[in-house]
Amino acid sequence: GASGLGTEIVGTINKLQDVFTTVGSSASAIDLPQICVLGSQSSGKSSVLENIVGRDFLPRGSGIVTRRPLVLQLINRPAGTPPPAGDAAPKVNGTDKAGDKGANPDEWGEFLHLPGEKFYDFTKIRDEIVRDTEAKTGRNAGISPLPINLRIFSPHVLTLTLVDLPGITKVPVGDQPRDIEKQIRDMLFKYISKPSCIILAVTAANQDLANSEGLKMAREVDPEGTRTIGVLTKVDLMDTGTDVVDILAGRVIPLRLGYVPVVNRGQRDIETNRPITAALQKEREFFDTHPSYRGKSQYCGTPFLAQKLNSILKAHVRNTLPDIKARITQQLQRYQLELQSLGGPLGDNNANVILSVITEFCADFRTAIDGNTNDLSLNEL
Ligand code: GDP
Ligand code: NA
Ligand code: MG
Repeated sequence: GASGLGTEIVGTINKLQDVFTTVGSSASAIDLPQICVLGSQSSGKSSVLENIVGRDFLPRGSGIVTRRPLVLQLINRPAGTPPPAGDAAPKVNGTDKAGDKGANPDEWGEFLHLPGEKFYDFTKIRDEIVRDTEAKTGRNAGISPLPINLRIFSPHVLTLTLVDLPGITKVPVGDQPRDIEKQIRDMLFKYISKPSCIILAVTAANQDLANSEGLKMAREVDPEGTRTIGVLTKVDLMDTGTDVVDILAGRVIPLRLGYVPVVNRGQRDIETNRPITAALQKEREFFDTHPSYRGKSQYCGTPFLAQKLNSILKAHVRNTLPDIKARITQQLQRYQLELQSLGGPLGDNNANVILSVITEFCADFRTAIDGNTNDLSLNEL
């Protein structure tokens, strides 16, 4: 991906998931947290998610664009992997086929509501999100808690779930019911209440942080602030002479995991189809040259946000590891007993194969997670 989550964590976690698939489902793969965006309408939530994934495919824009939850499952799939057994030949229709200009045969999307149909053209994915949103909620500003489930298969992603959510709104527009605020809040609480949910609380930097609806809601479900990251968008739209330095320093509303300022594509960039790589470059330049941020620009922008998410995921894996080890040991003992009861050298060989896979995986894991000195330590999260 152009930015995305770092390749190192992608490699490690995907390797772990692979080992579990090889060893057998009873050992159970790592259950990674879901990452949800939370904030007011048009604060830039969809833009932030898109930048993290490093691909263009989410509907964005002024007004209420995201009107149903989008549960986005990223699935790592090494390039050139043959299609799963029993997989139907891809439905090749119009521009969805892999051979199209710009399409990559190793990256595609699939919707739960369109089984067997593969989307290789990411703009078609966006069109389908818009189409199905309208089909279930109407063209006006209606919302629905019915999620859209989209899976993205790619060699460049971490197997992980991201959730794009409608924004918090106060005033009904269009056909919206009078209790729209409550309806949206109830929907959001369902996602962010889960202890395994990492909340990206998104606030536009050109608004007053004290009025941030996202931060207020996040505090209700995560009072200790152990799973809430503050994201400040639209830093490029702040009045000249103002900045978010006080917020970053924790002098306004302190957050345990801190804040990350970002610059996403503006409405004009969307209209002119500015590519994500160009947008990330522009973001980098903005923070590197701005008098308020250039001294600390490594702590600003989408790549740093992705790095923070990496660290949280690593901490999660690290905390989950003892339980996984215990389950593997248990399973191994059970295998050995079974093999003993069968007797013979063949049984011992099988046990050795399993043992060597696990030993290798533990070594890989330790190198990648514990032995990495470039890592942010847990305290720095
Ligand atoms: P959402 O409603 O919270 O999902 O927000 P969107 O991602 O749809 O963005 C709403 C509008 O704000 C779009 O027109 C975006 O182009 C614009 N926008 C989002 N983030 C930024 C930013 O950092 N800078 C600028 N200039 N515009 C942004
Ligand atoms: Na919007
Ligand atoms: Mg949105």
